[in-house]
Amino acid sequence: MPPDTLVGRAVTVRDAVEADLPQITAIWNHEVLWTDATTDTEPRDPGAQREWFARHSAGYPIVVAATGPEVLAFGALSPYRPKPAFARTVEDSVYVKRGHRGAGLGDVILADLIRRARARGHHSMLARITSANSASLRLHARHGFVIVGVESQVACKHDHWLDVTIMQLPPDAFTGFGVVSSNEEIAPPAGEDSTSACRDR
Ligand SMILES: CC(C)(COP(=O)(O)OP(=O)(O)OC[C@H]1O[C@@H](n2cnc3c(N)ncnc32)[C@H](O)[C@@H]1OP(=O)(O)O)[C@@H](O)C(=O)NCCC(=O)NCCS
Repeated sequence: MPPDTLVGRAVTVRDAVEADLPQITAIWNHEVLWTDATTDTEPRDPGAQREWFARHSAGYPIVVAATGPEVLAFGALSPYRPKPAFARTVEDSVYVKRGHRGAGLGDVILADLIRRARARGHHSMLARITSANSASLRLHARHGFVIVGVESQVACKHDHWLDVTIMQLPPDAFTGFGVVSSNEEIAPPAGEDSTSACRDR
């Protein structure tokens, strides 16, 4: 479905710019304060939001779906773990402004993040989703993510325990982009599937 039919207005998906931060903050802080969509509990002030923006280098983009100056949704890729070995495994986040959900904006943002993850040579993509968030679970499943684990009662928010479901877009979905086998030191023994080789960076 083309984006411009999603909400009856032309919707552009583009890189986020600093001027978008107040609107991104408003979308994010509502979920932090009032819902279990994120396990974060501390709203971001403008300084914290600018730091978040600065942490997202070209390899870990932030995108927005916007109509004119209005940000309707945003998404981001982040390193899954800070350790260098995890540099090519990314975690996505997708947040749609209240009043615009159920119109496919989550689809548009997630599809764009998957495309960008591939283009940047990432090898694997995961999402950590609170287990009651059926809209996000379904969104990710529609894009090929599969459940690879459930962490039971790992986060306490709003006085109750939250389970976190981990979904992964299988590395096969990235075939031809991030997989390399030329690093002799870590090349697999003869006979082993060469697609399991990688090159650190
Ligand atoms: C989860 C989220 C990103 C999905 O994005 P979206 O653009 O609403 O996605 P969709 O349009 O594909 O709709 C999601 C589902 O909710 C249903 N839905 C319909 N109307 C809806 C509404 N007014 N509000 C929410 N969901 C609605 C859709 O029918 C769809 O169900 P389906 O998958 O069975 O078809 C979005 O709902 C959101 O931002 N939620 C709050 C933040 C959040 O949970 N982020 C993800 C953290 S992991």
